[in-house]
Amino acid sequence: MNQTKSITTKTNGRLIPDYLRKTYWWAYLHPRGVKFFERQWLVNLILFGNYNYLCDQVIEQIQGAAQKGGILQIACAYGDLTPRLANLLDQNEKLDVIDVARIQLKNLKRKLSPSHNVQCYLQDSTNLNFPSNNYKVALLFFLLHEQPLQQRIDTLKEALRVTDLGGQVVIVDYHRPSYWFPLRYLLFPFLKLLEPYAKDLWQYDINEWLPSDIPPQNIHKQTYFGGLYQKLVITKPM
Ligand SMILES: C[S@@+](CC[C@H](N)C(=O)[O-])C[C@H]1O[C@@H](n2cnc3c(N)ncnc32)[C@H](O)[C@@H]1O
Repeated sequence: MNQTKSITTKTNGRLIPDYLRKTYWWAYLHPRGVKFFERQWLVNLILFGNYNYLCDQVIEQIQGAAQKGGILQIACAYGDLTPRLANLLDQNEKLDVIDVARIQLKNLKRKLSPSHNVQCYLQDSTNLNFPSNNYKVALLFFLLHEQPLQQRIDTLKEALRVTDLGGQVVIVDYHRPSYWFPLRYLLFPFLKLLEPYAKDLWQYDINEWLPSDIPPQNIHKQTYFGGLYQKLVITKPM
């Protein structure tokens, strides 16, 4: 599998997509940014104390679903989510992680122990270099709100493509909070400034960006923390 080739082709010779380079360089690409943000308490603070709880939701979901196949985590995340996922696996299960930024994969490897059965790949979520129907679960943890519309649509399409029939795409991300929730009013201007694509997750359902052949009964949404966060589980039709 030639991951590097697939990325360079996709991004016209540049490994890093423009939105990531322009909007998020300080958070994910600059070595000082990586050093700064790779702190459990800080990622927890950014999620208003919900990091562990949201990771628990992922673990609970995946524990039941990944017994006979692999898990693909699409994009690295700060904090201990990936080591926790790796701890779930028994000898026959595997966890693959892709990220488009080399520095993120390097950072992830520092958090894993040699006993963890985790493979890291330098790939773009919009153009995955894996066969179709390859994984029991594909996980998108706070990636979609950072992507412009077309990349978001392509990422979802690819996540579904590489997921096995009857397997699940598990998404945890922002969601439009309830009217009564005070953070709705405090957070929106802040997100608009720092995370220009995140408002789409407040204004639209993720369903709107899914391929049209996913039946509504295969999509299960749960919201948390006044509706600010959501977990969406999409079961790929058989
Ligand atoms: C999953 S998102 C946000 C994670 C969340 N803020 C956290 O750390 O908990 C951040 C990651 O997505 C990666 N990323 C962004 N666009 C990508 C793409 N098109 N393909 C693969 N990885 C991507 C970035 O390099 C970064 O490592």
